Amino acid sequence: MDSTIFAFFFIGLLTTTRAFDPCPSLKPKSDTSDLSIIHIYGKCSPFSSPKPSSSWAATVLNMASKDSQRMAYLSSLVSTKPKTSVPIAPGQVINIGNYVARVKVGTPGQLMFMVLDTSTDTAYVPCSGCANCKSTMFSQNTSTTYGPLNCATSECAKVRGLTCPADGSIIGNCLFNRSYGADSFSATLSRDSLQLGDDIIPGYVFGCIGNVSGNSIPPQGLLGLGRGPMSLMTQSGPLYSGVFSYCLPSFKSYYFSGSLRLGPNGQPKTIKYTPLLTNPHRPSLYYVNLTGITVGQVKVPIAPELLEFNPNTGAGTVIDSRTVISQFVPDVYNAIKEAYRNQTQGPFSSLGAFDTCFSVTHEDVAPKMTLHFTGLDIVLPMENTLIHSSAGTLACLAMASAPNNVNSVLNVIANLQQQNLRILFDITNSRVGIAREICN
Ligand SMILES: *[C@@H]1O[C@H](CO)[C@@H](O)[C@H](O)[C@H]1NC(C)=O
Ligand SMILES: *[C@@H]1O[C@H](CO)[C@@H](O)[C@H](O)[C@H]1NC(C)=O
Ligand SMILES: *[C@@H]1O[C@H](CO)[C@@H](O)[C@H](O)[C@H]1NC(C)=O
Ligand SMILES: *[C@@H]1O[C@H](CO)[C@@H](O)[C@H](O)[C@H]1NC(C)=O
Ligand SMILES: *[C@@H]1O[C@H](CO)[C@@H](O)[C@H](O)[C@H]1NC(C)=O
Repeated sequence: MDSTIFAFFFIGLLTTTRAFDPCPSLKPKSDTSDLSIIHIYGKCSPFSSPKPSSSWAATVLNMASKDSQRMAYLSSLVSTKPKTSVPIAPGQVINIGNYVARVKVGTPGQLMFMVLDTSTDTAYVPCSGCANCKSTMFSQNTSTTYGPLNCATSECAKVRGLTCPADGSIIGNCLFNRSYGADSFSATLSRDSLQLGDDIIPGYVFGCIGNVSGNSIPPQGLLGLGRGPMSLMTQSGPLYSGVFSYCLPSFKSYYFSGSLRLGPNGQPKTIKYTPLLTNPHRPSLYYVNLTGITVGQVKVPIAPELLEFNPNTGAGTVIDSRTVISQFVPDVYNAIKEAYRNQTQGPFSSLGAFDTCFSVTHEDVAPKMTLHFTGLDIVLPMENTLIHSSAGTLACLAMASAPNNVNSVLNVIANLQQQNLRILFDITNSRVGIAREICN
C-alpha cells in the first residue's frame, strides 16, 4: 500500500482523554486505547494560528510524522479484533434503488444509511444546513470530533484534482463539487469518526454536503469502497488488510439482512477467485477479466476483443455495487439477447429499459446464465437474471445495452446480478472471489 497516501490525512493526534475534556493533552501517552481528534485549526490545536506562516511546510512535515502513530494504533486493533460486520439492506428502506449500509458518523455516532459504491473512493454525507437535502442529515455541530479540512491539505488536492496555491494563500475550507449526469452537489472536505459495526475509524475524510441539485445524489450519503487513495480500504490502513466482502440480499427484501464484512476474519474459506486488473487511468474501479457468457448450454458467440481489458480506452468489465442493472457494450448485449431469446418462448416485448420481456408462464423453462471469468465461473441464480413487471405478468431479462456511442466500452456487472452472492474483494492479493450465499 502506498504510504504517501496517508501522509497528511490524519492531522489529529493520539491522546488519552476524558470524554468531555475540551482541550485534551496533545502529547501521546503510553495508553493509546482512547482517541480524540483535534482539528488542525480548532481552538485546542497548537497549529491554530490564523494564517499559515513561512514555517507552514515544516509544520506540515511535523504533522505527517504523527501519522505513524495513527497507523500503529490501527495496527494494534487488528490482532485482537473480531470480525466486523455492517448490515446492508436494499435502498427501498429509504426509497432509492441502491443498496445501503448502516453506519454511524461523528461522536456520539449518528446513524446514516449510506449507499455502497465500489466505484467511488470519497465518501460523502449530507450535513445540516444543506440546501435541498431531503433526508436525514449529519449534524456536524453536535459531533465532538468533527472538523473541516483546509484547502492546503494533500487530501484536498486529491479530491478536487487541483492543488491550492503553494504559497499557502488559501486558508479557507476545502470545497469541492461533484456531478452525476445532470445532478450535482457541493461539499466541504471534512474529517470525523466513522463507525462500521463495532469499529471506530478516527479522522475519516469525507465530503460534508452543503448543497444538492437533482434527485440522484444518495439522500443519506455514500460510502466509497473503491480502491483509490480516499476510499475506505485506503483510509483504514492496516485495519482491514485491504480485504472486504459483501452479500446483497434480494432486491425486494425490506431487511438489513445483508452484510458488509471488513477484514480477512470471517470471510468464506472456500471461494473461487479471479484476478483483479488495474487501470492506472481509473484507479478506483475493480476491473476483472470477463472471458465469456453461457446461456443455457450455449456459449454466446462474442468476439474476444469486445471483452478485452484496455487501460488506455477504459474498455473491459468492472464489478460495481451501485449500478442497478448490468450493462454490456452493444455488440455483447445483442449477442446475449439473441442467445437468450433463442432459448426462451416469446412473444417478446419491451418494458422501460428492458427489451426482452415475456410471459411469466414461460419463466420456468427460461435458460440459466453463466458468467465466465479467468479462474471462476458463476451460474447466476434465476432472480439475478429476470426481473418482474409490477403487475407480475411479465418477466424481463434484467440486463441492458450500454448507450451506443464511442465512449461506450465498459461492461458493468451490477447489483441486481449480485443478489445473494458473496463478493470478496482482496486488494492486497489483487483478486475478487464470488460464492453463493443466501443473505435474505
Ligand atoms: C452550528 O453552530 C453554530 C454556533 O452555535 C451556529 O452559528 C451554526 O448556525 C450552526 N450550524 C448549523 C448548520 O446548524
Ligand atoms: C461549485 O459549483 C458552483 C456552481 O456551479 C460554483 O459556483 C463553484 O465555484 C464550484 N465550486 C468549486 C470548488 O468548484
Ligand atoms: C445551491 O446550488 C445552486 C446551483 O449551483 C445555486 O443556485 C444555489 O444558490 C446554491 N444554494 C446554496 C444555499 O448554496
Ligand atoms: C483475459 O482472458 C483471456 C482468455 O483467457 C486472455 O487471453 C487474456 O490475456 C486475459 N486478459 C487479461 C488482462 O488477463
Ligand atoms: C439463435 O438461433 C439461430 C437460429 O437457430 C442461430 O442461427 C443463431 O446462431 C442463434 N444465436 C445464438 C446467439 O445462439
